[in-house]
Amino acid sequence: MAAHAVTFELHHTDAHCAARRATLRTPHGVVDLPTFMPVGTVGTVKGVDIGRLGETGAQMVLGNTYHMALRPGEEVVAKLGGLHAMSGWRGPMLTDSGGFQIFSLAKKVKITEEGARFHSHIDGAALHLTPERSVEIQEHLGADVAMVLDHVIALPADRYAIVDAMQRSIRWAERCLQHASRPDQSLFAIVQGGLDSGLRAECAARLSEMDFAGYAIGGLSVGESADEMDRTIDDTCPALPHDRPRYLMGVGTPRDLLESISRGVDMFDCVMPTRNGRNALAFTDEGPLRLRNARHTEDTRPLEEDCPCPACRHSRGYLRHLFTAGEMLGPILLSIHNLTYYQRLMADARAAIEADRFMAFKAGKLAGWVGTAD
Ligand code: GUN
Ligand code: ZN
Repeated sequence: MAAHAVTFELHHTDAHCAARRATLRTPHGVVDLPTFMPVGTVGTVKGVDIGRLGETGAQMVLGNTYHMALRPGEEVVAKLGGLHAMSGWRGPMLTDSGGFQIFSLAKKVKITEEGARFHSHIDGAALHLTPERSVEIQEHLGADVAMVLDHVIALPADRYAIVDAMQRSIRWAERCLQHASRPDQSLFAIVQGGLDSGLRAECAARLSEMDFAGYAIGGLSVGESADEMDRTIDDTCPALPHDRPRYLMGVGTPRDLLESISRGVDMFDCVMPTRNGRNALAFTDEGPLRLRNARHTEDTRPLEEDCPCPACRHSRGYLRHLFTAGEMLGPILLSIHNLTYYQRLMADARAAIEADRFMAFKAGKLAGWVGTAD
């Protein structure tokens, strides 16, 4: 077994659930797990410059192969020194393979055993992404972690389609592993298999036989219920190696994060804090606040009394005014607040796991969010 560029060290498992306190060591630094990765789809976390991003407590950021390959193109990124130098983010970084974006954004997609043929959602240009090409592009981007190219399908789907996409994803994962060549980059596999517990366990077991540095759970947050997501994670995590990080892709709400951590997930990414922030929704311990609601107009309180973020130096009334006036500072400040909220949630989760009180911590947070007015 070759040494991995990215390594996982498990420190403690909570005495009352499967929550894990661990660290991920990467060529660009150490990440405390469980962690939440802000999404930097097009080489920027929308609305948040690198300095502010670091201040939210973010340690690892996600980038996207699909978007970077379309614009500005991998050669331009490579000329600008790779995604780290281009974006200015000096810390750990992970790139997604394009599998999910082909499914969610691309036009006229045709999947064959060789790869995915599709048309760009930007200018309609025809593209062919194979597992090998995805690895090559990700090697040009230069993140610490690259993801395998997977075949993502919409749910619900018939069993034949789920099995077919899962088996193809396993074969593509093996091709990615064979093709990967950068010694300072590690590859994570992605478990597919829909909502079927047998298929999830089988896919996890098959991928675990190959030596990936980490394992992701994919194909979720595509329209299933919260219960179905929880159950699928319950089915998958026990079949994954205990000495590798587990990454739940594209998830989720604060609730989803805590439920998944209690089941053994270590890493997350999601557009939710930034996308919701741009839409005037702020996450708080009392549940989400919709700042366009008129009840905030003369409210002098900050979003959260104890939040250290720059948005919380202002009143809810002022933040609401920024949105009603269409000022760009509103979306920027709320994106920063929401990212800070997610990072503080993760920091508190890590402390709770260390003290074997994660289940009580989770119950307390869930009870607070239920009292959601808006
Ligand atoms: N992002 C969210 N879900 C997925 C998935 O299933 N596969 C990939 N590659 N990225 C994702
Ligand atoms: Zn704040």
